[in-house]
Amino acid sequence: MATILRSLHLMMILYISSIPLNFAQDESQFIYNGFSQANLYLDGIAKIHPNGLLQLTNISHQQFGRAFYQFPIKFGTISSLSFSTNFVFAMVPQKPKLGGHGIAFTISPSKGLTHGMASQFLGLFNFSNIGLNSNHILAIELDPVKSLEFEDIGNHVGIDVNGLRSLELAPAVYYSNDERRNISLELISGNPMQLWIDYDEVEKLLNVTLAPIRTPKPSSPLLSTPINLSDIVLESMYVGFSASTGVVASDHYILGWSFNKSGQAQSLDISSLPKLPPHKKRKEKQVVPIRDLLIIVVVVLITITGSACYFRRKKYEEVREDWESEYGTHRFSYKSLHKATKGFKAKEIIGEGGFGKVYRGILPSNEQIAVKRVSHNSQQGMKEFVAEIVSMGRLRHRNLVRLLGYCRRKGELLLIYDYMPHGSLDRFLYNNGRRHLNWLQRFRILRGVASGLLYLHEGWEQIVIHRDIKASNVLLDAEMNGRLGDFGLARLYDHDTNSQTTHVAGTAGYLAPELTRTGRATTYTDVYAFGAFMLEVACGRRPIERMGKPEELVLVDWVFECWSNGDILRASDPRLEGNYVVEEMALVMKLGLLCSHVNPAARPSMRRVMQFLDGDVDLPNIPYDSASFGKVPSSETLDFLWSPPSFVQSSDPSMSSTISILKGGR
Ligand SMILES: *[C@@H]1O[C@H](CO)[C@@H](O)[C@H](O)[C@H]1NC(C)=O
Ligand SMILES: *[C@@H]1O[C@H](CO)[C@@H](O)[C@H](O)[C@H]1NC(C)=O
Ligand SMILES: *[C@@H]1O[C@H](CO)[C@@H](O)[C@H](O)[C@H]1NC(C)=O
Ligand SMILES: *[C@@H]1O[C@H](CO)[C@@H](O)[C@H](O)[C@H]1NC(C)=O
Ligand SMILES: *[C@@H]1O[C@H](CO)[C@@H](O)[C@H](O)[C@H]1NC(C)=O
Ligand SMILES: *[C@@H]1O[C@H](CO)[C@@H](O)[C@H](O)[C@H]1NC(C)=O
Repeated sequence: MATILRSLHLMMILYISSIPLNFAQDESQFIYNGFSQANLYLDGIAKIHPNGLLQLTNISHQQFGRAFYQFPIKFGTISSLSFSTNFVFAMVPQKPKLGGHGIAFTISPSKGLTHGMASQFLGLFNFSNIGLNSNHILAIELDPVKSLEFEDIGNHVGIDVNGLRSLELAPAVYYSNDERRNISLELISGNPMQLWIDYDEVEKLLNVTLAPIRTPKPSSPLLSTPINLSDIVLESMYVGFSASTGVVASDHYILGWSFNKSGQAQSLDISSLPKLPPHKKRKEKQVVPIRDLLIIVVVVLITITGSACYFRRKKYEEVREDWESEYGTHRFSYKSLHKATKGFKAKEIIGEGGFGKVYRGILPSNEQIAVKRVSHNSQQGMKEFVAEIVSMGRLRHRNLVRLLGYCRRKGELLLIYDYMPHGSLDRFLYNNGRRHLNWLQRFRILRGVASGLLYLHEGWEQIVIHRDIKASNVLLDAEMNGRLGDFGLARLYDHDTNSQTTHVAGTAGYLAPELTRTGRATTYTDVYAFGAFMLEVACGRRPIERMGKPEELVLVDWVFECWSNGDILRASDPRLEGNYVVEEMALVMKLGLLCSHVNPAARPSMRRVMQFLDGDVDLPNIPYDSASFGKVPSSETLDFLWSPPSFVQSSDPSMSSTISILKGGR
């Protein structure tokens, strides 16, 4: 009996998967419950598994995969513009909650799209054709990643025409017919979901509807956007999918697909869709409660011992509030730090910057640490700040200095970092007595820092803006790798809003012009600072050199001048004595200029910067227009650079000090 049932089942599957053959004459409608027999044109790393599962990409980085229906579909005058389609997809991220870049259902004049690039371009566009009406591309994107350049949000569905700045977008939710409310969905949960796309030529409405697999089509669409397709689609178009991965990646799958040009697309047979390959997600889920339990035990233990210490010794008095109990494992006791740094001996000071002194310490485990003492009187925003600091402790990247934990005392915050044996980069760049770095080392440091910053901007579950990139915040580890430190610390001063003023933390010479106006830090203001940093490393000079000749006061201006005189290499660090790779030096300086563009939108993203530094993409021509670079409307900037009384200026020994600009109060 069981065998008969099984063979019946098998026959059913065979029957269903043979359906496409029945439509052999009518190329404008098809249904694929699995793609074993499908007429698809595959491109990039797309492939079809033996079980019929269509995989557009795997988790390899910076790849794209496309699958288009082989035959063109007639739109426009010959046929109507209406169409209806639905498909089941799944995005299995490389790590839980860390995946991208997304899938786009696409209607395009060609199935080749040979120039489409990976990452945020979803395999559809490149830098030069994005946004052009001549593309004739309609795409419905399923995009878990926030892209600043397209002004979108994370975890969203968007309707795109000829580019990726969505006509309309919405967070991934579905309307539950039973509960009569929206329920959110995480696109990169790894679970299969279904999407319906319906366009009616008469209503001129494009409806996009999302739901988990096995949930019937919601009665209310996620997006219902008025759009006149007649200008967008041509008479003969191809339909299909394009997916890409970037620094973050996912396996992108399509399980089944139904398309109809002459009526409602038939529903897929969910039970006969191919299965996704097993992945480890479930196992991890079971581990979590145990881990949580362990953390709670550790937290309780540390809290108990911590409070015991608190009462025992006033000398080691700390500030500890109820809300901190959840950060137990990240909290260091003041006593242990006191011991580790030999009582914060002056001899153990390894650095001193705008935020405070840094001490070297050795834990009982023999682990070396760096302890930063930041004086901070305001209680306001402390809770948010500590929450942020603790979550940043989870950032892991070989070009970031790891934050191990924190400790609080009255009027003081202590931050504990990995110890970096070679100290900060600026000491190598500016201390003439020490050996300086050769070009190979400098270039490697630049690329490392770029990749660390890219990770902060795009590689993590939330965007982290560094806010204070400069040579003194780049530390060198035992292998002379550059590592960014102090990320997010500037934030502390942002929270500090006890008056009507807004503080902008940062360092003169690295502050993007718009930052001094708006006070809003973005990834583009980081890119600006990184540009100044690149020039600094290449030229061996600070962004603003008050001691120098007047024409060399502002580094960007000077490099720009050398460049416009056709001799950019003149600005290179004389201590290198010409020992560098000319192409790399010129690249770094030109890229530094490009990042210093006064218009934030004209600056490349860190991802682009990385591509340029890796030589994957050629640098575009720099416009010959001095007003676009560095030269911030001079009187205003120089005012603010030269008249310290209006600013709170700290006693940083270096010329470039951390300043807070008082905004609004004047
Ligand atoms: C991804 O797919 C490509 C092409 O099929 C293959 O070469 C590569 O090894 C795969 N990578 C992973 C991580 O599965
Ligand atoms: C971008 O794509 C267009 C075709 O749409 C192609 O002509 C152009 O060369 C591509 N540009 C780059 C930089 O790849
Ligand atoms: C559900 O979400 C969509 C898209 O964001 C929105 O247009 C709609 O108003 C929401 N409906 C309800 C009941 O909240
Ligand atoms: C799109 O959704 C709207 C609002 O729910 C509905 O009135 C319209 O009939 C739908 N159109 C199509 C083509 O599904
Ligand atoms: C749609 O666009 C076409 C071509 O521009 C135009 O002829 C037509 O009138 C438009 N339809 C509506 C309803 O705007
Ligand atoms: C397409 O629509 C027509 C008319 O509603 C219907 O008869 C046909 O079964 C549909 N085909 C598919 C593949 O959805």
